[in-house]
Amino acid sequence: MFDTKKLFARARAKNKTIIFPEAGFSDRTIEAVKILHKKKICNVILVGDESSFIIRDKSLLKFTIMNPKTCPLKSKLVKHLYTKRKEKGMTMEEAENLVTDPYYFATLLVDLGIADGMVAGAEASTARALKPALQIIKTGKKGQIASSSFLIFGKNEVIKNRTLLLADCGLNVCPTADELVTIANQTIDTAKIIGLEEMNVAFLSYSSKGSAKGEVPEKMATAASKFSRPAVVCDGELQLDSALCADVAKLKVPNSKIQGNANILIFPDLSSGNITYKAMQILGNMNAIGPIVQGLKKPVNDLSRGCSVQDIVILSAITALQAKEN
Ligand SMILES: CC(C)(COP(=O)(O)OP(=O)(O)OC[C@H]1O[C@@H](n2cnc3c(N)ncnc32)[C@H](O)[C@@H]1OP(=O)(O)O)[C@@H](O)C(=O)NCCC(=O)NCCS
Repeated sequence: MFDTKKLFARARAKNKTIIFPEAGFSDRTIEAVKILHKKKICNVILVGDESSFIIRDKSLLKFTIMNPKTCPLKSKLVKHLYTKRKEKGMTMEEAENLVTDPYYFATLLVDLGIADGMVAGAEASTARALKPALQIIKTGKKGQIASSSFLIFGKNEVIKNRTLLLADCGLNVCPTADELVTIANQTIDTAKIIGLEEMNVAFLSYSSKGSAKGEVPEKMATAASKFSRPAVVCDGELQLDSALCADVAKLKVPNSKIQGNANILIFPDLSSGNITYKAMQILGNMNAIGPIVQGLKKPVNDLSRGCSVQDIVILSAITALQAKEN
């Protein structure tokens, strides 16, 4: 079973600072922040109006609180945002307004290195939580996509204690074969960050190695043939059962390199990825953490609005681990 204690210990050793733009209006975020502080998993910055924290719980005043409306760094942030977005047509006036938005405010603080990472999305859609990061922080390589994965773990009779990463379940609606290769590579990077040792990648579809024809199986087979990474086993196109169940793999794809032992599942599009992770969570009673955003220059992570306090704690630890050393 995925070892959250080990994850927390590794995050603790990095001593990173995570900013929470929803702290001012999300009770689940506040509960998570208290746990993060108690377990010393990371330092925290709460975004919001001081008076809202006093009303809710005076003990919150021990944390660093930054109010976008009164922050002494406001003019620096406005200038930074304007400089980054003026070529896209942003005016100084628009920058001034956007800086008071908690998601833009927190993202700018991450971009400037005042916080090491951001966690949001308990109260907002993926587009609202992530668009500032896609516009301001951007990906490590120009023109490359960012993507997202879900960490899935729990007890299951078929996959036993195998920890899975599913991608892309949160960001890219219909990736091309080349984008799927990028998504797989970024998911491997995430797997390394969270401490997975074995990595078996399956490019999924409704066909196992040519058992059915169509554009989607073809796209997944192409992606599988283009993907190459040292010490990572890859196969595709595969159906979910051929990827996860050894007995099915023996029957359907006896020559598969994975033999039903996949733990990194790459989906053809956002619908299939998003539906599958929710099915595993709701029907399979598995833990689902994410979306973990991959490929950005600095870590900004999203949450599902249905997340629990523990999900926020785990995603914050992952965010701390994604942060690069200064
Ligand atoms: C990612 C997403 C939010 C972008 O939103 P959008 O309103 O369409 O934004 P735009 O297309 O105007 O893009 C905004 C910026 O983000 C960048 N961007 C968008 N998608 C990106 C991606 N996958 N990787 C990297 N950058 C991306 C664009 O290049 C653009 O940058 P620019 O303004 O500097 O040119 C959108 O693709 C989306 O809604 N995806 C699905 C999310 C979702 O609903 N998930 C299901 C629930 S988890």
